[in-house]
Amino acid sequence: MPQKPSNGLRALSLFSGGGGLDLGFDRAGFRHMASFDILPETAAVLKAARPDWEVHAGDNGDVTRIDWKSYRSKIDVLHGGPPCQPFSHAGGRRGAADVRDMIPEFGRAVLAIEPKAFILENVPGLATKKFAPYVKEMILDRLGSRYQIQMLVLEAADFGVPQRRKRVFFVGFRNRAVAKRYKVPSPTHARDLGAGEGLPVVMGARQALGLPDIGLDGLVPTLRSGLTGPRHSTSVVNSATAMRQWEELQIWPNGVAPDRDAASRFAAKNGTFRLSIPDCLLLQGFPADWPIKPPVYKALGLIGNSVAPPMAYAVACSVADVLAGG
Ligand SMILES: C[S@@+](CC[C@H](N)C(=O)[O-])C[C@H]1O[C@@H](n2cnc3c(N)ncnc32)[C@H](O)[C@@H]1O
Repeated sequence: MPQKPSNGLRALSLFSGGGGLDLGFDRAGFRHMASFDILPETAAVLKAARPDWEVHAGDNGDVTRIDWKSYRSKIDVLHGGPPCQPFSHAGGRRGAADVRDMIPEFGRAVLAIEPKAFILENVPGLATKKFAPYVKEMILDRLGSRYQIQMLVLEAADFGVPQRRKRVFFVGFRNRAVAKRYKVPSPTHARDLGAGEGLPVVMGARQALGLPDIGLDGLVPTLRSGLTGPRHSTSVVNSATAMRQWEELQIWPNGVAPDRDAASRFAAKNGTFRLSIPDCLLLQGFPADWPIKPPVYKALGLIGNSVAPPMAYAVACSVADVLAGG
Protein backbone atom coordinates (compact mmCIF):
# COMPACT_ATOMS: atom_id res chain seq x y z
CA MET A 1 0.00 0.00 0.00
CA PRO A 2 2.31 2.79 -1.13
CA GLN A 3 1.30 6.11 0.41
CA LYS A 4 -0.43 8.17 -2.29
CA PRO A 5 -0.12 11.96 -2.28
CA SER A 6 -3.12 13.91 -1.04
CA ASN A 7 -6.06 13.59 -3.45
CA GLY A 8 -7.89 16.52 -1.87
CA LEU A 9 -10.87 14.35 -0.92
CA ARG A 10 -12.26 14.35 2.62
CA ALA A 11 -13.23 11.03 4.22
CA LEU A 12 -15.47 10.36 7.22
CA SER A 13 -15.32 6.96 8.91
CA LEU A 14 -18.20 5.29 10.77
CA PHE A 15 -17.82 2.01 12.73
CA SER A 16 -14.05 2.48 12.54
CA GLY A 17 -13.08 -0.42 14.86
CA GLY A 18 -9.37 -1.25 14.59
CA GLY A 19 -8.99 1.08 11.60
CA GLY A 20 -8.75 -1.25 8.58
CA LEU A 21 -10.82 1.00 6.33
CA ASP A 22 -9.31 4.13 7.88
CA LEU A 23 -5.78 2.97 7.12
CA GLY A 24 -6.70 2.04 3.53
CA PHE A 25 -8.24 5.47 2.92
CA ASP A 26 -5.32 7.22 4.57
CA ARG A 27 -2.76 5.47 2.38
CA ALA A 28 -4.92 6.19 -0.67
CA GLY A 29 -4.40 9.92 -0.06
CA PHE A 30 -7.73 10.89 1.55
CA ARG A 31 -7.89 13.55 4.24
CA HIS A 32 -9.25 11.97 7.42
CA MET A 33 -12.04 14.12 8.86
CA ALA A 34 -13.19 11.98 11.82
CA SER A 35 -13.79 8.42 13.00
CA PHE A 36 -16.71 7.14 15.06
CA ASP A 37 -16.99 3.87 17.00
CA ILE A 38 -18.75 2.89 20.19
CA LEU A 39 -15.68 0.93 21.36
CA PRO A 40 -13.27 2.92 23.56
CA GLU A 41 -10.39 0.85 22.09
CA THR A 42 -10.85 2.58 18.74
CA ALA A 43 -9.55 5.81 20.24
CA ALA A 44 -6.54 4.03 21.76
CA VAL A 45 -5.60 2.47 18.42
CA LEU A 46 -6.29 5.36 16.07
CA LYS A 47 -4.83 8.09 18.30
CA ALA A 48 -1.66 6.00 18.74
CA ALA A 49 -1.44 5.47 14.99
CA ARG A 50 -2.40 9.01 13.92
CA PRO A 51 -2.25 11.44 16.88
CA ASP A 52 -3.71 14.28 14.83
CA TRP A 53 -6.88 12.42 13.84
CA GLU A 54 -10.26 13.35 15.30
CA VAL A 55 -11.63 10.18 16.89
CA HIS A 56 -14.99 9.86 18.65
CA ALA A 57 -15.08 6.63 20.64
CA GLY A 58 -17.09 5.10 23.46
CA ASP A 59 -20.39 6.88 24.16
CA ASN A 60 -19.24 9.86 22.07
CA GLY A 61 -18.73 7.56 19.12
CA ASP A 62 -22.20 5.99 19.23
CA VAL A 63 -23.51 6.78 15.76
CA THR A 64 -27.14 6.50 16.89
CA ARG A 65 -26.63 9.68 18.93
CA ILE A 66 -25.01 11.85 16.28
CA ASP A 67 -26.74 14.60 14.38
CA TRP A 68 -24.83 14.49 11.10
CA LYS A 69 -26.02 17.86 9.78
CA SER A 70 -22.81 19.60 10.80
CA TYR A 71 -20.90 17.40 8.31
CA ARG A 72 -23.13 18.30 5.38
CA SER A 73 -21.10 19.52 2.35
CA LYS A 74 -17.89 18.89 4.28
CA ILE A 75 -17.40 15.24 3.32
CA ASP A 76 -16.54 13.75 -0.06
CA VAL A 77 -16.56 10.08 0.91
CA LEU A 78 -18.38 8.44 3.80
CA HIS A 79 -17.22 4.90 4.55
CA GLY A 80 -18.08 2.32 7.14
CA GLY A 81 -18.45 -1.36 7.95
CA PRO A 82 -21.53 -1.65 10.20
CA PRO A 83 -21.59 -4.69 12.51
CA CYS A 84 -21.84 -7.94 10.56
CA GLN A 85 -23.57 -10.13 13.18
CA PRO A 86 -27.07 -9.58 11.74
CA PHE A 87 -25.90 -11.09 8.42
CA SER A 88 -23.33 -13.70 9.48
CA HIS A 89 -23.98 -17.33 10.43
CA ALA A 90 -22.15 -16.75 13.70
CA GLY A 91 -24.47 -13.87 14.52
CA GLY A 92 -27.67 -15.82 13.81
CA ARG A 93 -28.56 -14.03 10.51
CA ARG A 94 -31.59 -12.20 11.93
CA GLY A 95 -31.08 -9.16 9.69
CA ALA A 96 -33.30 -6.20 10.56
CA ALA A 97 -34.67 -8.08 13.59
CA ASP A 98 -31.23 -7.88 15.21
CA VAL A 99 -30.83 -4.76 17.38
CA ARG A 100 -27.18 -4.66 16.30
CA ASP A 101 -28.24 -3.88 12.73
CA MET A 102 -26.65 -0.48 12.07
CA ILE A 103 -27.12 -0.32 8.29
CA PRO A 104 -30.14 1.98 8.79
CA GLU A 105 -27.87 4.28 10.81
CA PHE A 106 -25.29 4.29 8.03
CA GLY A 107 -28.08 5.24 5.62
CA ARG A 108 -29.24 8.01 7.93
CA ALA A 109 -25.73 9.47 7.92
CA VAL A 110 -25.47 9.26 4.12
CA LEU A 111 -28.81 11.02 3.64
CA ALA A 112 -27.96 13.75 6.15
CA ILE A 113 -24.40 14.39 4.94
CA GLU A 114 -24.89 13.80 1.20
CA PRO A 115 -21.25 12.91 0.45
CA LYS A 116 -20.16 12.58 -3.18
CA ALA A 117 -19.72 8.86 -2.58
CA PHE A 118 -20.28 6.25 0.09
CA ILE A 119 -18.75 2.85 0.71
CA LEU A 120 -20.59 0.37 2.87
CA GLU A 121 -18.72 -2.86 3.71
CA ASN A 122 -19.97 -6.10 5.23
CA VAL A 123 -19.74 -9.90 5.23
CA PRO A 124 -20.66 -11.67 1.99
CA GLY A 125 -23.71 -13.07 3.80
CA LEU A 126 -25.36 -9.70 3.17
CA ALA A 127 -25.13 -10.38 -0.57
CA THR A 128 -27.00 -13.71 -0.36
CA LYS A 129 -30.57 -14.39 -1.49
CA LYS A 130 -31.85 -14.41 2.08
CA PHE A 131 -31.03 -10.73 2.47
CA ALA A 132 -31.93 -9.60 -1.06
CA PRO A 133 -35.20 -7.99 0.13
CA TYR A 134 -33.35 -6.32 3.01
CA VAL A 135 -30.62 -4.98 0.70
CA LYS A 136 -33.27 -3.72 -1.72
CA GLU A 137 -35.20 -1.90 0.97
CA MET A 138 -32.43 -0.57 3.23
CA ILE A 139 -29.67 0.15 0.69
CA LEU A 140 -30.77 0.11 -2.94
CA ASP A 141 -34.19 1.76 -2.57
CA ARG A 142 -33.51 3.99 0.41
CA LEU A 143 -30.23 5.41 -0.89
CA GLY A 144 -30.84 4.66 -4.58
CA SER A 145 -33.05 7.71 -5.07
CA ARG A 146 -29.96 9.92 -4.59
CA TYR A 147 -27.09 7.52 -5.40
CA GLN A 148 -26.06 5.17 -8.21
CA ILE A 149 -25.07 2.05 -6.30
CA GLN A 150 -22.91 -0.90 -7.32
CA MET A 151 -22.28 -4.03 -5.29
CA LEU A 152 -18.84 -5.67 -5.38
CA VAL A 153 -17.71 -8.88 -3.75
CA LEU A 154 -13.95 -8.86 -3.33
CA GLU A 155 -11.41 -11.39 -2.07
CA ALA A 156 -8.60 -10.09 0.16
CA ALA A 157 -6.03 -12.51 -1.32
CA ASP A 158 -6.49 -10.81 -4.72
CA PHE A 159 -4.98 -7.71 -3.10
CA GLY A 160 -1.95 -9.43 -1.60
CA VAL A 161 -3.36 -10.52 1.77
CA PRO A 162 -2.18 -14.04 2.72
CA GLN A 163 -5.69 -15.04 3.81
CA ARG A 164 -8.94 -16.17 2.19
CA ARG A 165 -11.41 -13.48 3.11
CA LYS A 166 -14.37 -12.32 1.02
CA ARG A 167 -16.20 -9.09 1.71
CA VAL A 168 -19.06 -7.23 0.05
CA PHE A 169 -18.90 -3.49 -0.72
CA PHE A 170 -21.74 -1.22 -1.80
CA VAL A 171 -20.26 1.76 -3.58
CA GLY A 172 -22.64 4.67 -4.23
CA PHE A 173 -22.04 7.84 -6.25
CA ARG A 174 -24.25 10.91 -6.19
CA ASN A 175 -23.29 11.90 -9.72
CA ARG A 176 -24.54 9.61 -12.51
CA ALA A 177 -21.65 10.36 -14.91
CA VAL A 178 -19.09 9.62 -12.19
CA ALA A 179 -20.85 6.35 -11.37
CA LYS A 180 -20.70 5.35 -15.03
CA ARG A 181 -16.95 5.91 -15.13
CA TYR A 182 -16.33 3.90 -11.97
CA LYS A 183 -14.15 0.82 -12.39
CA VAL A 184 -14.19 -2.03 -9.89
CA PRO A 185 -10.68 -2.49 -8.43
CA SER A 186 -8.69 -5.07 -10.37
CA PRO A 187 -6.72 -7.68 -8.46
CA THR A 188 -3.14 -6.73 -7.76
CA HIS A 189 -2.12 -10.34 -7.07
CA ALA A 190 -2.79 -13.77 -8.55
CA ARG A 191 -3.83 -16.65 -6.33
CA ASP A 192 -1.79 -19.24 -8.26
CA LEU A 193 1.26 -19.25 -10.44
CA GLY A 194 0.23 -18.37 -14.00
CA ALA A 195 -3.31 -17.41 -12.95
CA GLY A 196 -3.29 -13.61 -13.31
CA GLU A 197 -1.43 -12.27 -16.32
CA GLY A 198 1.75 -10.59 -15.16
CA LEU A 199 0.53 -10.30 -11.58
CA PRO A 200 2.74 -11.36 -8.67
CA VAL A 201 1.44 -14.41 -6.84
CA VAL A 202 0.06 -13.63 -3.40
CA MET A 203 2.50 -14.65 -0.66
CA GLY A 204 1.72 -17.69 1.41
CA ALA A 205 1.20 -17.15 5.11
CA ARG A 206 4.51 -18.74 6.09
CA GLN A 207 6.45 -16.50 3.73
CA ALA A 208 4.50 -13.43 4.92
CA LEU A 209 5.42 -14.29 8.52
CA GLY A 210 9.07 -14.96 7.61
CA LEU A 211 8.88 -18.63 8.65
CA PRO A 212 11.27 -21.34 7.36
CA ASP A 213 10.42 -23.15 4.13
CA ILE A 214 8.70 -26.48 4.85
CA GLY A 215 8.03 -27.24 1.19
CA LEU A 216 4.46 -26.04 1.51
CA ASP A 217 2.79 -22.68 1.91
CA GLY A 218 -0.60 -21.13 1.26
CA LEU A 219 -3.32 -18.77 2.39
CA VAL A 220 -4.68 -19.06 5.91
CA PRO A 221 -8.43 -19.46 6.38
CA THR A 222 -10.48 -16.38 7.33
CA LEU A 223 -9.36 -15.14 10.74
CA ARG A 224 -12.31 -15.46 13.07
CA SER A 225 -13.96 -12.25 14.14
CA GLY A 226 -14.52 -11.46 17.79
CA LEU A 227 -18.05 -12.70 17.25
CA THR A 228 -17.47 -16.32 16.31
CA GLY A 229 -16.41 -18.96 18.79
CA PRO A 230 -16.32 -18.45 22.53
CA ARG A 231 -16.17 -14.96 23.95
CA HIS A 232 -12.79 -13.75 25.17
CA SER A 233 -11.15 -16.41 23.04
CA THR A 234 -7.50 -16.10 22.11
CA SER A 235 -7.98 -18.27 19.02
CA VAL A 236 -8.41 -17.18 15.41
CA VAL A 237 -9.96 -20.48 14.26
CA ASN A 238 -13.63 -20.74 13.46
CA SER A 239 -14.12 -24.31 12.20
CA ALA A 240 -12.65 -27.80 12.24
CA THR A 241 -11.86 -27.48 8.53
CA ALA A 242 -10.01 -24.23 9.21
CA MET A 243 -8.06 -25.92 12.02
CA ARG A 244 -6.83 -28.62 9.60
CA GLN A 245 -5.66 -25.90 7.19
CA TRP A 246 -3.70 -24.13 9.94
CA GLU A 247 -2.15 -27.44 10.97
CA GLU A 248 -1.08 -28.20 7.40
CA LEU A 249 0.77 -24.88 7.38
CA GLN A 250 2.30 -25.80 10.76
CA ILE A 251 0.92 -22.64 12.34
CA TRP A 252 -0.79 -22.85 15.73
CA PRO A 253 -3.77 -20.48 15.82
CA ASN A 254 -4.96 -21.05 19.39
CA GLY A 255 -3.60 -19.32 22.48
CA VAL A 256 -2.38 -16.37 20.42
CA ALA A 257 0.40 -14.60 22.35
CA PRO A 258 0.61 -10.83 23.01
CA ASP A 259 3.93 -10.57 21.15
CA ARG A 260 6.56 -12.69 19.42
CA ASP A 261 8.78 -13.02 22.49
CA ALA A 262 5.90 -14.38 24.52
CA ALA A 263 4.98 -16.72 21.64
CA SER A 264 8.50 -18.13 21.43
CA ARG A 265 8.60 -18.76 25.19
CA PHE A 266 5.42 -20.81 25.06
CA ALA A 267 5.99 -23.73 22.67
CA ALA A 268 3.05 -24.71 20.48
CA LYS A 269 1.78 -28.19 19.74
CA ASN A 270 4.12 -30.43 17.67
CA GLY A 271 6.66 -27.65 17.24
CA THR A 272 4.27 -25.59 15.12
CA PHE A 273 4.58 -21.79 15.04
CA ARG A 274 2.52 -20.02 17.70
CA LEU A 275 0.88 -16.83 16.47
CA SER A 276 1.10 -13.49 18.26
CA ILE A 277 -0.82 -10.23 17.77
CA PRO A 278 1.75 -8.79 15.28
CA ASP A 279 1.52 -12.01 13.23
CA CYS A 280 -2.27 -11.75 13.10
CA LEU A 281 -1.91 -8.13 12.00
CA LEU A 282 0.35 -9.26 9.14
CA LEU A 283 -2.05 -12.03 8.14
CA GLN A 284 -4.81 -9.41 7.95
CA GLY A 285 -2.68 -7.07 5.82
CA PHE A 286 -1.89 -4.47 8.52
CA PRO A 287 1.68 -3.37 9.24
CA ALA A 288 2.99 -5.53 12.14
CA ASP A 289 3.36 -2.41 14.28
CA TRP A 290 -0.21 -1.10 13.83
CA PRO A 291 -0.99 -0.20 17.47
CA ILE A 292 -3.62 -2.84 18.24
CA LYS A 293 -2.45 -3.98 21.67
CA PRO A 294 -3.29 -6.65 24.29
CA PRO A 295 -5.42 -7.93 25.91
CA VAL A 296 -5.21 -10.56 23.20
CA TYR A 297 -8.94 -11.30 22.97
CA LYS A 298 -9.73 -7.63 22.38
CA ALA A 299 -6.92 -7.27 19.85
CA LEU A 300 -8.16 -10.33 17.95
CA GLY A 301 -11.69 -8.90 17.97
CA LEU A 302 -10.45 -5.68 16.37
CA ILE A 303 -8.27 -7.49 13.84
CA GLY A 304 -10.87 -10.13 12.93
CA ASN A 305 -13.59 -7.50 12.46
CA SER A 306 -11.48 -5.22 10.31
CA VAL A 307 -11.45 -4.75 6.58
CA ALA A 308 -8.08 -6.06 5.36
CA PRO A 309 -6.30 -2.73 4.71
CA PRO A 310 -4.94 -3.64 1.24
CA MET A 311 -8.50 -4.43 0.13
CA ALA A 312 -9.73 -1.16 1.70
CA TYR A 313 -6.89 0.63 -0.10
CA ALA A 314 -7.87 -0.86 -3.46
CA VAL A 315 -11.49 0.27 -3.01
CA ALA A 316 -10.41 3.71 -1.75
CA CYS A 317 -8.08 4.18 -4.75
CA SER A 318 -10.81 3.11 -7.18
CA VAL A 319 -13.19 5.70 -5.72
CA ALA A 320 -10.53 8.43 -5.63
CA ASP A 321 -9.64 7.74 -9.28
CA VAL A 322 -13.14 8.44 -10.45
CA LEU A 323 -13.95 11.32 -8.08
CA ALA A 324 -10.71 13.11 -8.78
CA GLY A 325 -11.62 13.09 -12.46
CA GLY A 326 -15.11 14.45 -11.88
C1 LIG B 1 -17.09 -4.78 11.56
S1 LIG B 1 -16.53 -3.66 12.75
C2 LIG B 1 -15.82 -2.39 11.75
C3 LIG B 1 -14.38 -2.58 11.42
C4 LIG B 1 -13.73 -1.47 10.65
N1 LIG B 1 -14.49 -1.13 9.47
C5 LIG B 1 -12.31 -1.80 10.23
O1 LIG B 1 -12.03 -1.85 9.04
O2 LIG B 1 -11.45 -2.01 11.10
C6 LIG B 1 -18.01 -2.91 13.31
C7 LIG B 1 -17.80 -1.83 14.34
O3 LIG B 1 -19.07 -1.20 14.61
C8 LIG B 1 -18.98 -0.71 15.92
N2 LIG B 1 -20.31 -0.32 16.41
C9 LIG B 1 -21.35 -1.11 16.76
N3 LIG B 1 -22.40 -0.38 17.16
C10 LIG B 1 -22.03 0.93 17.04
C11 LIG B 1 -22.67 2.19 17.30
N4 LIG B 1 -23.92 2.24 17.76
N5 LIG B 1 -21.98 3.31 17.08
C12 LIG B 1 -20.70 3.28 16.63
N6 LIG B 1 -20.05 2.13 16.37
C13 LIG B 1 -20.70 0.97 16.57
C14 LIG B 1 -18.35 -1.86 16.68
O4 LIG B 1 -17.79 -1.42 17.90
C15 LIG B 1 -17.30 -2.35 15.68
O5 LIG B 1 -16.04 -1.79 15.92
